[in-house]
Amino acid sequence: MQRGQFSSRLGFILAASGSAVGLGNIWGFPTNAAENGGAAFLLMYIILAFLLAYPALMAELIIGRHTRSNMVTALQSIASSSRAKTAGKLTGLGGILAATFILCFYSIIAGWMIAFMLEPVAHFFGMEALGNWLTEFSLARNLGFSALFLSLTVLVISAGVEQGIEKWSQRLMPSLFVLLAALIVYVLLQDGAMQGLKHYLVPDFSQMADPQLIVRALGQAFFSLSLGVGTMLIYGSYIRSDENLPVVGALVTLTDTGVAFLAGMLVLPAIFVAQELGVTIYGGDGSLIAGPDLIFQVLPALFDGMGTAGLAVGFAFFVLMTIAAVTSSISMLEVPVAYTVETAGTSRIKATWLIGLGVFVCSAVVSMNFDALFGLVVTLTTEWAQPLLGVMLCIFAGWIFNRNSILSELKQGDAGVEQGLFWKVWPIYVKFFCPLLIVLTFAQGFF
Ligand code: PHE
Repeated sequence: MQRGQFSSRLGFILAASGSAVGLGNIWGFPTNAAENGGAAFLLMYIILAFLLAYPALMAELIIGRHTRSNMVTALQSIASSSRAKTAGKLTGLGGILAATFILCFYSIIAGWMIAFMLEPVAHFFGMEALGNWLTEFSLARNLGFSALFLSLTVLVISAGVEQGIEKWSQRLMPSLFVLLAALIVYVLLQDGAMQGLKHYLVPDFSQMADPQLIVRALGQAFFSLSLGVGTMLIYGSYIRSDENLPVVGALVTLTDTGVAFLAGMLVLPAIFVAQELGVTIYGGDGSLIAGPDLIFQVLPALFDGMGTAGLAVGFAFFVLMTIAAVTSSISMLEVPVAYTVETAGTSRIKATWLIGLGVFVCSAVVSMNFDALFGLVVTLTTEWAQPLLGVMLCIFAGWIFNRNSILSELKQGDAGVEQGLFWKVWPIYVKFFCPLLIVLTFAQGFF
């Protein structure tokens, strides 16, 4: 069977950054920064992104391209002993499961983004009742919009790597950059914006040693680069053989952290612009309102306060969120789909629709038991599974994957790689430091 492949370097970079740039950047990052000391969080996040997340990303890309297969087959095939093969199978299945469950909760939030995007439209046409329904929490709305969002995701993935993932990333990512830039310029020109910028960019170093801040920043970095669950591994398996992996990996990491940084320049100033318009931005305990209330209450109140311009700005903001969400969700769905297609021989279209349906059932169960399940699924997948699977991937890359195979894999894209800095540092780094640092960072969150 013919495997898909990205047709160009730009195509891969846009697809992989599309996976990386998502709600995690535009919602998660600014919210976390607002909650955890602004610039202190930003700094810790950037350090961890390059120190831990980039090497782990490289592990996935190299394993993926070398094996040209889904996570389970990939990890099994680089292992030689039968014990390592079993570990590979379990890690691979764990990753596929985690990607699928991330999609379950992600589609619920992404559905809200679509609903909030349509609200200004309803308002514009005088349909107030519809507008209210769109922004009020209800089971019907949640189910309807997560189904809509999942259908979009399924449509893109069923079209395959080049015609689906690559084509849509190439259309959507440039629009995302333009929208983000335009919104930042607009918000920074409003009264109050500078105060927000100060909160974001002037660090309070005393907060940097806060264990919660470090664990959050690590989780944020792993989630944001889509690590641990086989997404980058499967995208790596579709890269052309002559591509220089350390360079494209670095470009993806830079784009991802760059967009998170820019999203902070949008959301934090916006909070203080809202305050200028009379919106309450501090909660009862004196800290900034963060979490879902920030995106779904503070910002909409800001757009309301801006009158007619606010309709356009609000619409643009939620279009931005929706685009970011789709280019990420397609990469999540690709993980179980590629596995099913490659191991069970199911056709792509059939596999995509069936798995999409399964994810919808799962997200419906979560929606119906929202208070009990939503936070639980988020914590289990992003705070536990992602870093721990990340450790396993580093162990596979550092201890199990044959060093010469890694080298010849890298040489295809850069004949002089052996003399470069990457090859001097990365193999040792991924073998010892990465697993250790991830485990330590992870562990200190509990003690
Ligand atoms: N990186 C995406 C975001 O920031 C989320 C994601 C996680 C995508 C895991 C794929 C796999 O929103």
